[in-house]
Amino acid sequence: MAAIPQTFISQLLSMCDIEDIVSSYANVKRQGRNKSCLCPFHSEKTPSMVIYNDTQSFYCFGCGVGGDVITFIMKIENLDYVEAVKFLANRVGLQIPEEARDDKTAYLKSRILEINRASARFYYDCLKSDIGKAGYDYFKTRQLSDKTITKYGLGYAPDSWDLLKNHLLGLGFNYEEMYLAGVISKSQRTSRYYDTFRNRVMFPIIDTKGNVIAFGGRVLDNSKPKYLNSADTPVFKKSRNLFSLNFAKNSKSDRMILAEGYMDVIAINAAGFDNVVATLGTALTKEQAKIIGNKAKEVIIAYDSDEAGQTATHRAINLFSDEGIPTKILKLTGAKDPDEYIKKFGVKRFEMLLDGAGDIIEFELNKLKATLDLEDINDKKAYLKGAVSVLSNVTDPLERELYAGIVSKETGIATESIMSQVKSKIKKDSREKQRREWNDIRINKKVLSDRINPQKPKFLKQSLAEEGIIAFLFRNPDYYDYILSKIGVEDCVTDFNKRVFKKLSECISKQGEVTLTALSEDFSSDEKSRIAQILAQSESQRQTKELLDGYIATLTEYNKSLKSKDIAATDIGDIEQYRKNLLKKKSN
Ligand code: CTP
Ligand code: MN
Repeated sequence: MAAIPQTFISQLLSMCDIEDIVSSYANVKRQGRNKSCLCPFHSEKTPSMVIYNDTQSFYCFGCGVGGDVITFIMKIENLDYVEAVKFLANRVGLQIPEEARDDKTAYLKSRILEINRASARFYYDCLKSDIGKAGYDYFKTRQLSDKTITKYGLGYAPDSWDLLKNHLLGLGFNYEEMYLAGVISKSQRTSRYYDTFRNRVMFPIIDTKGNVIAFGGRVLDNSKPKYLNSADTPVFKKSRNLFSLNFAKNSKSDRMILAEGYMDVIAINAAGFDNVVATLGTALTKEQAKIIGNKAKEVIIAYDSDEAGQTATHRAINLFSDEGIPTKILKLTGAKDPDEYIKKFGVKRFEMLLDGAGDIIEFELNKLKATLDLEDINDKKAYLKGAVSVLSNVTDPLERELYAGIVSKETGIATESIMSQVKSKIKKDSREKQRREWNDIRINKKVLSDRINPQKPKFLKQSLAEEGIIAFLFRNPDYYDYILSKIGVEDCVTDFNKRVFKKLSECISKQGEVTLTALSEDFSSDEKSRIAQILAQSESQRQTKELLDGYIATLTEYNKSLKSKDIAATDIGDIEQYRKNLLKKKSN
């Protein structure tokens, strides 16, 4: 964070108006003195997100998310802090200054990327030399061409504990950097470092900027674990990256194929389809679904035809549907995965399969039918019940009719009665969903408030006074001297507010003013939401000196009563100690 100079952030903020930024994602309307919109972070029908021009902040009274422009971009674009700053800088045409790169973490990241690149090169060179013959032969049995091997930069990690380690040492990298990159591991028993990947064929994972960010490695036989994947590192988050996205991002196709594994992706790509990606050894995440949705208009799920693949398909369908991304399912009849399908039936048939990729409804209905016998009355009932539930998730009414017709033919039940069941199921679900959403929001809000300032419920009056003072100081930094002449940081009762107050005072005494962004380094994103909330709630009140004095009085009274109670409750020895402390404080 310190990577980007504060002066630059200030300049950037002066060019990014919160209302302007939010407006590009939501329909912002005037509401009294402020602006409001439907919150883009939870689903709602009446606007509960408010935008405050004076503090350049936003806060959603529905879900409790809030912060400054940078927080907003981090959340809505799913970026980290530095990425969000870059995103905004890009938007207004500012260049991030060079010295940003001098930062320590930036340096470490660049070292890790260099290590990854050098390792990928090493694995590749091994594959192409005698030491990697086993790996090369393996790829050949999987029918990969030399061209494909080079395109993906595939490699081989030799069957050795220290060949890579020594190679990297020779290039001037140290153990700590290699360890953080994940290419070497540390023995718990002996504390010695050793190569993480051994006797495996290697799949480098490359991001859209062309950086090698991680590796997957496969054994050459049937031993376990079949794949070993890099853990998350400072340059790699599994949940936010996709294998082969570096190629797929440039694809001209407006659909994306999502396969299950490295070998499927490579086979599909080698067959001439560059619009294919896979997750990295984990189930699909929301972030990955978003990335795919940003690039393509439609996704085709091409998971393995085994049970695990079908379960994963089911989960992926739900994620894509949550993100509003149209989804189709590839039916791989006669093969266990796309790789095998292409080898068995050829590219042409795979292409036909893609073009006719079955839709979700068919997939779900077939899945239901698979274990049922429609001649059996109980099975038929079960099928109808399941089918009604499947159809109730279809958003297009015409399409719903169409499939109701098909189910009607299959079961002999009239289309109308199926449709009427579907309609009542839809109603029931939507009531249920609303109830759940409100519950979630309630729970979220409670958890959030408890977690951020756990002392608040116990010291409600005092914490509200603290928040009042914080908001006042935020809006009227020229009252800084006045406030500090009445109370100090130690007078805050709750620890969280104490931290905020302390940071605020520091900022104001240094810079004469404070912005939410200036707090970024010291507060997490949830904590910033809370600070935005404190600002939002004070907004409706007129900021008078009387109000401020009231808050201050609440705190001073509480502290006074605490001290007298302290004395009353403690024994003579303690009082003596207390007196000594007081004397010491005075003489300081
Ligand atoms: N996977 C993993 N760890 C394992 C097994 C699988 O991370 N022990 C991940 C890998 O990303 C793999 C994907 O799950 O690519 C799919 O697994 P699987 O179908 O078993 O592997 P394939 O990619 O089909 O590999 P292969 O064809 O070489 O068996
Ligand atoms: Mn597979």
